[in-house]
Amino acid sequence: MIYTVTLNPALDKTVEIPSFTVDSVNRIVKMRTDPGGKGINVSKVIDKLGGKSIATGVLGGSTGTAIQSALEEMKLESSFLFAEGETRTNLKVVDPERHTNTDINEPGLTVTDELLNSLLKELLEKLGEEDIVVLSGSLPKGAPKDTYYTWVKACRDAGARVILDADGELLAEGLKASPYLIKPNNHELSGLLGQTLETPKELEHAAKTLMSQYGIEKIVVSMGGEGALYVTGEKTIYAEGLKVPVGSTVGAGDSVVAALAVAEERGLTLEETVRLSTATGAANVMCSGTQAAEYDVIQGLIPKVVFSSL
Ligand SMILES: Nc1ncnc2c1ncn2[C@@H]1O[C@H](COP(=O)(O)OP(=O)(O)OP(=O)(O)O)[C@@H](O)[C@H]1O
Ligand SMILES: [Mg+2]
Repeated sequence: MIYTVTLNPALDKTVEIPSFTVDSVNRIVKMRTDPGGKGINVSKVIDKLGGKSIATGVLGGSTGTAIQSALEEMKLESSFLFAEGETRTNLKVVDPERHTNTDINEPGLTVTDELLNSLLKELLEKLGEEDIVVLSGSLPKGAPKDTYYTWVKACRDAGARVILDADGELLAEGLKASPYLIKPNNHELSGLLGQTLETPKELEHAAKTLMSQYGIEKIVVSMGGEGALYVTGEKTIYAEGLKVPVGSTVGAGDSVVAALAVAEERGLTLEETVRLSTATGAANVMCSGTQAAEYDVIQGLIPKVVFSSL
């Protein structure tokens, strides 16, 4: 089973306001709400890929209940713990006339050590050798900076393969517990090493350094429209980005993480993994917002993926 962990979920509320103006009354012409947060987005894409996952994490208040019901409606299995307070709602104002995107994010709830410990304990009780745990995204207020260290280590000790997708200090801390796979983008990897990494060779060298320093098995460095680099102990593959019409690049990385988790679970070869995840990333870029692409679109892109060994 694949478990996705979203410790800081959000209800994404996307509103369309033509000629959005500050200091004035604005009228919404279109509106939608989607359960969001990186782990939840990963679960949505796993479902489209024909896989199964259980989404876990922390929810709160009526917004939390709304997220839980939305997941149920989408037939996505979940097992969240409820905390005091209200899950954040993130408002995205899209202006089709001025071509702007404005994000207004709520601070969200505060978690306690007790709640995080109970959530981790619940997960560990279910985990076994065949399982994959995806830890991704930001942390809620109250969560210690080394939360991903604690979670990676505990899930690893329980025999699961851990995929970590986080940024900055959270990633730096999580790495120290040797996750199985990480998927930084080129900027996150550069930030981690404190140097600007641009070419595939530079990125590969940085990835190999981290792999030997921390005992990480696989690193996938995504590079937006430029594609991604897949670094394993045996070989490195560079996959070009597919040329597709861009709807929204939000969540492109999450869809790649979803494909990587499914590929691991199915035991795909590296080449098959490269094809599936590049196609999944591109198909999701073609969709608007964080809507997940349909499998037939992904399938259509799989043969078009171009890659080579580095
Ligand atoms: N403009 C694009 N055209 C085609 N494919 C894209 C484009 N942007 C992203 N992708 C695909 O999605 C993958 C992941 O994108 P990216 O590197 O932007 O992830 P990210 O920065 O982690 O995103 P996020 O964290 O916001 O989800 C890329 O490796 C590529 O395969
Ligand atoms: Mg990302």
